[in-house]
Amino acid sequence: MREVITDDGTITLKNDKYNECYHSIEGAVTETLYKHIYPAFGVVDKKEIKILDICFGLGYNTFLAILNRPINSKLKIYSPEFDGKLVKSLKDFKYPKEFEKIKYIIDAIAEKGFYKDEWVEVEVFVGDAREYIKKLDKIDIVFQDAFSPKVNRELWTIEYFRDIEKLSPKIITTYSVATPIRFALYNLGYNLYTHPYDNIRKGTIASKKILDFPSANFEEKLTRVENPFYYEDKNL
Ligand SMILES: C[S@@+](CC[C@H](N)C(=O)[O-])C[C@H]1O[C@@H](n2cnc3c(N)ncnc32)[C@H](O)[C@@H]1O
Repeated sequence: MREVITDDGTITLKNDKYNECYHSIEGAVTETLYKHIYPAFGVVDKKEIKILDICFGLGYNTFLAILNRPINSKLKIYSPEFDGKLVKSLKDFKYPKEFEKIKYIIDAIAEKGFYKDEWVEVEVFVGDAREYIKKLDKIDIVFQDAFSPKVNRELWTIEYFRDIEKLSPKIITTYSVATPIRFALYNLGYNLYTHPYDNIRKGTIASKKILDFPSANFEEKLTRVENPFYYEDKNL
């Protein structure tokens, strides 16, 4: 693993096995906030918010959700991650300064894979996300943040998204704009949007509800795509 300083000055890693970075070069914090946290908390405002963070990686999604927790909302965050060694190493990771406020949470997760107080509960499951999501109940928000479909196909298939759909998420956020991903979500009956911010590349927001975000205009795009397809597990 090699450290990479992204455009907003925050640090991510390049994973040698997948040959990809954990975040976009546009900024680890910027990407997390604008593609995941702000759209999701703009839609879900409840006393208890359940988040599925796919997958934990360096923990930016989870930690920035905690730092931006809607006032008076309790967060329950569930996050699978194959790489238990990486999670343990996060005690010493060079996070941005604002993460110092929750250093005790970072340390607890690195040591035990678990943290709980009156307002925040985090469970990191070391293992396969596909098995883990089958054991969960209802979820409000899904941060869909696996590596790209090219190298991490198993977390972008129609079968995987069917299991996600069973959790009845109000919103799914992802950096991916790939047609097979959008086609899978579209086939499952999701409305497709993009985030409204201009400072960072677009992603995809999926919801069964009508949301106040720019439309991804996917139906229009479908008329121009010759043979739309989605990824399937049987091809893995
Ligand atoms: C792009 S990174 C996640 C970045 C993370 N959200 C963050 O903020 O740092 C993708 C992560 O998914 C993990 N992963 C890939 N496939 C997985 C699977 N089937 N089950 C569990 N974890 C998986 C990888 O080990 C990697 O840490």
